[in-house]
Amino acid sequence: MTKIFAHRGMSTLAPENTLSAFSLCKQHGIQWIECDVDILADGTVVISHDDTLDRCTDCSGSLYDLTKDNLRDIDAGSWFHDDFIGEKIPTFDQLITLVNKHKLNLNVEIKSCTSGWKMTSRLLDNVIQALEGLEPNRELIVSSFNHLALSEFKRRRPNTPIACLFEDANLWEDWHSILEACQAEYIHPEDINLTKDKIDKFRSAGYKVNVYTVNDLARANQLFNWGVDGVFTDIAQQFPSKYKKQ
Ligand code: G3P
Ligand code: MG
Repeated sequence: MTKIFAHRGMSTLAPENTLSAFSLCKQHGIQWIECDVDILADGTVVISHDDTLDRCTDCSGSLYDLTKDNLRDIDAGSWFHDDFIGEKIPTFDQLITLVNKHKLNLNVEIKSCTSGWKMTSRLLDNVIQALEGLEPNRELIVSSFNHLALSEFKRRRPNTPIACLFEDANLWEDWHSILEACQAEYIHPEDINLTKDKIDKFRSAGYKVNVYTVNDLARANQLFNWGVDGVFTDIAQQFPSKYKKQ
């Protein structure tokens, strides 16, 4: 069964990585969501792609200077559309509650916390703790571009399937040794310059392949015909019914 991942939620219908964006998945028949997680100064795990507030809120500055209380005063929706004025940056705990309620499956992308290894390690611990709240029948993949952090995650929670993310620019011939070192089950390559030959190599080495970010239906079709397992997309609502939950 091919997978469509709503990338940062239904991120062209609602502000990315917000509860509204994730809530919309169910009504569009999308089973899998992708979210990015990072950590605040007090250890709170939040859903955010960027480590600053500047692009997707009404504030600027670093996430790492905030505590959970500050989230009340930050608007993460008014930049997108008036319908989302007052939307908040969600905590990871809030997202897990939504995932359980809507019976979704979850790809957690651990962001490469830029405030150092101490906070990265704390992020891993706090993600692991929060995942205890995920109902056991929800499917889960944990991914990261930071393969050191991902490997450490796998060491701390070995039963969770993990995925090594690669940009086109760093998908070198050592991909296989990186996946082996991390004990990854998946490779998540960038779509740019991805060929059938590369996908054949990933699959014949035994890895499942989910490709990001695919915002073209014909390209998604081509990738699926080449054997990829899933695509991350910002336009999940445009995918035909054969990809969606019946
Ligand atoms: O997890 C797939 C994709 O989200 C990786 O890139 O930058 O959108 O988090 P980015
Ligand atoms: Mg991501």
